[in-house]
Amino acid sequence: MKSKVFLEVGIGNGEFIVWAAKKDPQSTFVGVEVCKKVFRDAQKRVAKAGVKNVKLFLMEGTRALCQLFKEESLSGVYLNFPDPWAKKKQKKRRFINKASVWLIASRLKIEGFFIMATDFKEYAEETVELFSATGAFSSLWNTPIRNELPGYYLTKYARKWLSQGLPLYFVGLKKIKHCEVPSWLYSYYPLLKLKGGESLPEVVLSLNKKADFERLAQTLPKGTLWEEELVKEPLLSKCVIKVLEIYSKKDGLLLDMLVSEGEFVQRFFVKIAPHSEGLILKIHEATSAEPTEGVHLAMAIVARLCEKFLNARIERSSCKKKVWQKLEGRY
Ligand SMILES: C[S@@+](CC[C@H](N)C(=O)[O-])C[C@H]1O[C@@H](n2cnc3c(N)ncnc32)[C@H](O)[C@@H]1O
Repeated sequence: MKSKVFLEVGIGNGEFIVWAAKKDPQSTFVGVEVCKKVFRDAQKRVAKAGVKNVKLFLMEGTRALCQLFKEESLSGVYLNFPDPWAKKKQKKRRFINKASVWLIASRLKIEGFFIMATDFKEYAEETVELFSATGAFSSLWNTPIRNELPGYYLTKYARKWLSQGLPLYFVGLKKIKHCEVPSWLYSYYPLLKLKGGESLPEVVLSLNKKADFERLAQTLPKGTLWEEELVKEPLLSKCVIKVLEIYSKKDGLLLDMLVSEGEFVQRFFVKIAPHSEGLILKIHEATSAEPTEGVHLAMAIVARLCEKFLNARIERSSCKKKVWQKLEGRY
């Protein structure tokens, strides 16, 4: 029998995941965390505890859900004391929102659970509402929110709030039926569209004469190159492509680019360099990017601009056909 896999998002110092892994040595516990410092603390704690069934990733939670797990592969997701972003203006930064509940729903097996611990009542209540809206969950206990959960590990944050006499809220939900991933979710989380192993786009251009990179650096526009609304409801998702800076080198240019698609933001360098046929445009090896549609679009726009400003011709490209179609009439 395959071992069960559980995910903890925002592991902090790792005390919960170590406890969970020791309690259930047959299962695998994956922990993700965005803060480097606490991640290192967690790594040390896991190494010291000698638990072999824990895998840690310095990775954002929704990215982990998109890239590390297939549909219906998780037996449970834990979220202990997520940052509450209590102010109205900051609420959209919360980990649980209209989109992430669908992502979690799609990764959970039927009978899989979601457990969250928080000191923030409103966040607990809203989480229950958002999961209920998917239509795929029921309460894990006789009520979806409770103030005590005997036998559940109490982390540093739980201990802190309890020592101040404040109540805790445990949310427990169970996936009871299969749910189709709504099409808008793919725009919000573009990584969901990638299967893994896709290559980054490249373009080769032929030139009539040697490229003048210094002049090209001055001619290429900086700022926003593309802005498009991908979906409006239930959450606004946009694709925005920007050139933040252009660096001129003797043998080419580097474009510092920002591509934001829904909740996923990427920053990378596009390298424009001489090539046997003229010029090549590719993502600089020292930066990492995922070959999302936005990255393909960014590469195609830069190629069109080089074509125009250098009087060049696009000879070959691995940019998706779809993105060239999008550019028609605009670049
Ligand atoms: C308030 S702390 C709670 C830590 C731990 N769960 C505990 O109970 O002690 C929230 C943690 O979540 C991490 N975090 C916040 N947003 C995240 C995200 N989107 N993906 C992964 N980790 C995240 C933060 O860096 C922080 O370590």
